[in-house]
Amino acid sequence: MSASRSILLIIGGGIAAYKCLELIRRLKDRGISSRCILTKAGAEFVTPLAVSSLAGERCFTDLFSLTDEADIGHIALSRSTDLLVVAPATADLIAKMATGLANDLASTALLATDKRVLIAPAMNPRMWQHPATRRNMAQLEKDGILVVGPNSGAMAERGESGPGRMAEPAEILAAIELALAGEATTQQRAIGFLGRLPGGAGSPQGPLAGRHVLVTSGPTHEAIDPVRYIANRSSGKQGHAIAAAAAAAGARVTLVSGPVAVPDPPGVETVHVESAREMLAAVEAALPADIAIFAAAVADWRVADAAPEKMKKDGSGLPPLALIENPDILATVAHRPSGRPSLVVGFAAETQNVVAFAQAKLAKKGCDLIVANDVGGTGVMGGDANTVHLVTREGVESWPTLAKQEVAGRLIARVSEIIDASKARA
Ligand SMILES: Cc1cc2nc3c(=O)[nH]c(=O)nc-3n(C[C@H](O)[C@H](O)[C@H](O)COP(=O)(O)O)c2cc1C
Repeated sequence: MSASRSILLIIGGGIAAYKCLELIRRLKDRGISSRCILTKAGAEFVTPLAVSSLAGERCFTDLFSLTDEADIGHIALSRSTDLLVVAPATADLIAKMATGLANDLASTALLATDKRVLIAPAMNPRMWQHPATRRNMAQLEKDGILVVGPNSGAMAERGESGPGRMAEPAEILAAIELALAGEATTQQRAIGFLGRLPGGAGSPQGPLAGRHVLVTSGPTHEAIDPVRYIANRSSGKQGHAIAAAAAAAGARVTLVSGPVAVPDPPGVETVHVESAREMLAAVEAALPADIAIFAAAVADWRVADAAPEKMKKDGSGLPPLALIENPDILATVAHRPSGRPSLVVGFAAETQNVVAFAQAKLAKKGCDLIVANDVGGTGVMGGDANTVHLVTREGVESWPTLAKQEVAGRLIARVSEIIDASKARA
């Protein structure tokens, strides 16, 4: 599908520019060629030589270069491609795009193009949250610019963290492939939300615009001693996909994640925790929320007295490991006397009697919807596909085996319908 496809990659002046070298390499592996424009500030972070060596053709830098203009004029440069990608999209480049400035090669190409444009914003969290950047991003979204990221997390500046980290090359590549395919993601089609890619939370347009969605994901780790713990096989792929789908639907999303290897979803505020008790505390701190989706595989039990020092095998026999129950996060939130989210969704991972157990769980936990799946020997935990049943008080709906992203998209579509229906009844 990607054969003979090409992008024009505009590399702005941010620390994340180095990630573009990896992006160019990955694009090549996928058969997508990149022609590159490096801004003056971008050239402070990566060299034209490194860019052109990886891209396999010269890197363009100057609007008023006789050789560049004779080789391919700036207008042709902006049009002889399938997609323009700006990464890192600095605050400065975003502001230029929002106001239509054209005072260098990059901004001129962006204004002159007749192709779709995808941006991967990257900046300090304060710059990202500044009202000027918020205004500029709102304008770009109105203009139909596609956005991937930014992620939340630690910044290059010591001690700073928050939203503003550029999406990872793999995430940008996925967004490019979708844009080149001329479509929105499956999840966006499922929720009727076209025109932008996952990554930017709080869009004014999506079906969950103005809503706060809280999602938990991954396993929890329960300490035995400082180096050992009890865990389960949850990968976080399903919960993270749900958080990404909710963000793509325009929600403000808080994701409380146990220890996982998958990256934080773009455009989502991610809080990292280890144990069930930490997860409950983070969930309570994130409330109020309109919708809570508890996809994490929370350990039912923890060790009653975790050892403060590493336990030693000293020949005195097996150590006693007494277990006590962990707090039940789903039931705690679903039974809140005040401040309960309007919609509380639980997950039930079962190895037998999947639907019957889920129906019993629905009644016991006081939630509105259970997503039940069979995790018995099917490779679901850690895998990329899921076969789920939606259990409500009205009945059971069984879905075919789907990619976890597709499950996420459909679930968010269903959640949006339920919320809309309850609003119409109110
Ligand atoms: C060390 C350093 C790192 C920077 N990182 C960023 C960044 O990540 N994002 C951003 O928007 N600006 C960043 N800036 C500021 C931009 O480089 C500056 O606004 C520049 O004019 C942007 O140029 P451009 O429009 O070519 O991207 C950084 C500046 C310095 C000195």
